[in-house]
Amino acid sequence: MDHQKKRVKENFDADWFFHKGDLPVKYAVKAGMTGGITDNGKREDGEWIEIAYTDKETGEIPIPKDWNRVQIPHDWVVEGNVVNDPDLGSRPGSHGYLPTGIGFYRKMFAIQTEDLGKKLSIHFDGVMGVSTVWLNGHLLGTHNSGYIGVHYDISDIIRYGEEGNNVIVVKVDANRYEGWWYEGGGIYRHTWLQKTDRLHVGHWGTYVTTPHVTDESAEVMIRTIVHNEYEGDRLCELKSTLVDNEGKFVASVTDSLTAGWFIQKEVEQFVSIPVPQLWSPDRPYLYKLVTEIAAEGVIMDTYETTFGVRTLAFTRNGFALNGKPTLLKGTCNHQDFAGVGVALPDRIIAYKLQLLKEMGCNAYRSAHHPPTPELLDICDRLGMMVIDENRKLDGSPEGIADLKSLIYRDRNHPSIILWCMENEEILEGKVTGARILRTLATTTRKLDATRPTLAAMNHGWNGEGYSDQVDIVGYNYGQRKLQDVTDHQAYLSRIMLGSESASSTTTRGIYVLDKEKGYCPAYEGVFMPSWSCTVEKAWNDLLAHPFLTGVFLWTGFDYRGEPSPYRWPCVNSHFGIMDTCGFPKDVYFYLKSVWTEEPMVHFLPHWNWHGQENELIDVWIYSNGDSVELSLNGRSLGTMPMIEAGHLEWKVPYEPGVIIARAYKEGVAVAVKQVETTGTPYTIQLQPDRTVLHADSTDVAFITVTIRDEQGHVVPISDNEVSFVVEGEATILGVGNGNPSSHEPDKANRRRAFNGYCLLMIQTHSQAGEIVVRGISVGLLSAELRLRSC
Ligand code: GAL
Repeated sequence: MDHQKKRVKENFDADWFFHKGDLPVKYAVKAGMTGGITDNGKREDGEWIEIAYTDKETGEIPIPKDWNRVQIPHDWVVEGNVVNDPDLGSRPGSHGYLPTGIGFYRKMFAIQTEDLGKKLSIHFDGVMGVSTVWLNGHLLGTHNSGYIGVHYDISDIIRYGEEGNNVIVVKVDANRYEGWWYEGGGIYRHTWLQKTDRLHVGHWGTYVTTPHVTDESAEVMIRTIVHNEYEGDRLCELKSTLVDNEGKFVASVTDSLTAGWFIQKEVEQFVSIPVPQLWSPDRPYLYKLVTEIAAEGVIMDTYETTFGVRTLAFTRNGFALNGKPTLLKGTCNHQDFAGVGVALPDRIIAYKLQLLKEMGCNAYRSAHHPPTPELLDICDRLGMMVIDENRKLDGSPEGIADLKSLIYRDRNHPSIILWCMENEEILEGKVTGARILRTLATTTRKLDATRPTLAAMNHGWNGEGYSDQVDIVGYNYGQRKLQDVTDHQAYLSRIMLGSESASSTTTRGIYVLDKEKGYCPAYEGVFMPSWSCTVEKAWNDLLAHPFLTGVFLWTGFDYRGEPSPYRWPCVNSHFGIMDTCGFPKDVYFYLKSVWTEEPMVHFLPHWNWHGQENELIDVWIYSNGDSVELSLNGRSLGTMPMIEAGHLEWKVPYEPGVIIARAYKEGVAVAVKQVETTGTPYTIQLQPDRTVLHADSTDVAFITVTIRDEQGHVVPISDNEVSFVVEGEATILGVGNGNPSSHEPDKANRRRAFNGYCLLMIQTHSQAGEIVVRGISVGLLSAELRLRSC
């Protein structure tokens, strides 16, 4: 057989140009006309057309004015400046006080003549805003959802070879919001150019499930859409091969079929995996399905699908993964991160998930929208269970189409354990809402019945049949009025999930309430919105009521927008366990103490209380030891038994010096935390997450920047501004410091430290080589770092 790989899915992120602001669309589509008005042979003059062609005299592609080269993923909103305008956003401050607007993208590309006759398509994984796409002047379509991708068949309108270059133009109108958090604007997820033979696996055309799993074997059901776009029936062979995570052959099955012309035929096949290796967060074992379609002995298409074998069981008593009772230790998260808005290179997505995993988290709720596809790939590989969420309760044809796309796109990911239909919709508990929810849940079950449906509700649990429409009823903040407990007793067939909890507001490194600056103390519970509870309470609620199955803390990371409990000058939320840079807040260590086994002890606050000598300072301890001893300047302040799933509190008269918390298990010291009163800022330290990077123009290094005293201790109250110089094969991607009231730009070469820390992210070039990073600050010793990309 000819094993030439005919399917090509090329990353299409390079060489885009961006224009901020609206443009007349007359050069794309003329009023009253449809189709390729700019591709009609006349090739009218006009700004859009000019760059479509090579300059006759210089032979170069002119870069038009007001258009800048950008790297996709791209979010232009984060490049703007915050404005204290309550009308920006769906609620005052909800989108982080950043103006959105309209932007245009365009890109030129060549397609070889040999591709003529194939099926070509362009794929956008996510464009935030209403996107309209033209190719060579032909209108391809308009797409509304910023969270569900769109793809267009471009086979007929491509210019092949000598016909000329192709120009694609995307208008993005980000003026309309879909949610109440920062959403960004632009082509913020990957783009792809796909080429296949006319006989190929359909779009999202494989579905792998494991209906029967035992220790001895897993039965695997494979459904494949064979799509024939030739003008005539095709006899073909469909071969499905399973390989293990080392690429070794496991099983295969081949069927012959006739694919009718212009028909998408679904073929069902069964194979079995002997002694299956199960997927779990502890051991995320992955298999791969390799699908081949052959006609007349020639392979026409090869398509790969990653999947896993695991069983899920949700009951009134909780959740079991592979038969093992498992508490879901989850966080809810939006998409953004410091420095980049919502345009996260894959490396940042992986970094965020890794930080959550290190905290002991085993579950991720993609609130309140579908995630980027790469996030799910990483969750599969890393071992993170996912609640995949539909954007909203929407039974319109478009709403249903978006939901279907979500399920088709994602249903092979072993990481996904639940489909969430909606979050806190106004129609919860209402009959109309119940009807819409029924339609969404039934649509979902029809496409994938292997995971339950969920509604993440905050009211109406017992109204008008609403809750009966989903398999699992979500309780957002259900513990507030013990609604979850009473409903568990009253509704004997109801399966429940603590779908959202906490919303505990703390600011990293802040220990004194400061309403003017918009800071919440890191002592949990001191200052929070009325509906919130502490993370500590949320976890204890689950321990007391395991029928809630899990806890999904709002949120893993601070996010832009929704600056509760304040508004301006705050521009981002304080709900995170980590700040917008992924720097841990103190509460992170509470979760480490209850979610991880490795002995640890954590101490708050810092020990720089100059001027407060002899005043009582609240000291809190988080630890997974069974007792903790505190000592100050060599004197023991006593030992206290650790409170199960809680924290210890001391009141310590302040004196500068060294304070030490020592954790014991059965009398043996297992962990120690020392905090000292520091000197004044003296030097900068640059700490990279890795020193060797990939020279692929997408890799990112996370450089933690700290302000240190002469002894090398982080000065916890420092806010020095640091400027960065990056030389060699990388560029600054963005900066941040986790200060929820910072109005400094994230796209910059400088940043103030916030309580001792700020973050610099650099992105590699495609050229390998050395990278030199310098941190400079007036009055401080500079720092230099050398990294390498290869
Ligand atoms: C929830 C909501 C979240 C967020 C949170 C803030 O009710 O689902 O999106 O707004 O409150 O506490």
